[in-house]
Amino acid sequence: MTESYTWLITGTSRGLGLEIVRQLLQSPTNTVIAACRAPEKASSLQSLKNDAKGFLHVLEMDTSNEESIEASATRLKDILGVKGGVDYLINNAGLLEGGHSVTAFNFSASSLRRELETNVVGHAIVAKTYLPFVEKGKRKIIVNMTSGLASIGSDSGATYATYSLSKTALNMLTTKQAKARPDFICFCVDPGWVKTDMGGKDALLEPHESVSHILKLVTNATSESSGQFLRYDGKVLPW
Ligand SMILES: NC(=O)c1ccc[n+]([C@@H]2O[C@H](COP(=O)([O-])OP(=O)(O)OC[C@H]3O[C@@H](n4cnc5c(N)ncnc54)[C@H](OP(=O)(O)O)[C@@H]3O)[C@@H](O)[C@H]2O)c1
Repeated sequence: MTESYTWLITGTSRGLGLEIVRQLLQSPTNTVIAACRAPEKASSLQSLKNDAKGFLHVLEMDTSNEESIEASATRLKDILGVKGGVDYLINNAGLLEGGHSVTAFNFSASSLRRELETNVVGHAIVAKTYLPFVEKGKRKIIVNMTSGLASIGSDSGATYATYSLSKTALNMLTTKQAKARPDFICFCVDPGWVKTDMGGKDALLEPHESVSHILKLVTNATSESSGQFLRYDGKVLPW
């Protein structure tokens, strides 16, 4: 019999999160918990139910709000039952407010705080809150959606300063998660430069290209992947 898997993905109203859900629903063996902050407005996500082969549950979750994260976990217990686990947790929700013109000496403190809240604190609280679900999962995989701009070693220059520092902190969170739970597989993935609202129309990759690589990487992940900073195609990136 084919094994079935439960996936939880955050930030699924649009962009890469939506495409991850779309591709996962092409398999009848996947149950997808698609978290987004406003399910009633997420019409593209809701419409995926129409020709899904897998099971889709849309779950309200604002990852920058701790109460919302906790309330979503309580609702998930009702959906999955007490024994239900999450095999794959993909922390995908992300925020980029500071663009090309933002440097270490020219930034908005409120944008920096919001990016840290969404790109670091939110992911940390989601993983902590959903720990009991991941412990019950067969795969025990946590993926944090990072960015190539997080890499100090690759040197992306002075720009995108606040977003980059939030993603570098997310990378550190990932290594701490991997060290704390050697029985889990925790790693971070740079999706590449992708044509979404965040990536813009000049980006190099279509969402389906980036996501099909990411899903191969994630489903084939072994304990060797844990604690790594990987590009969507599996290349190991410098910290
Ligand atoms: N596109 C790229 O080129 C690129 C490159 C490197 C890394 N990334 C990373 O990949 C991930 C996905 O990016 P994307 O390109 O798909 O971005 P996007 O098109 O801007 O979509 C962002 C998604 O995150 C959700 N989100 C933001 N804040 C949230 C919150 N507080 N609670 C719940 N959901 C929230 C948004 O929901 P709403 O609709 O409710 O706002 C939306 O679904 C992000 O982590 C991003 O940093 C993207």
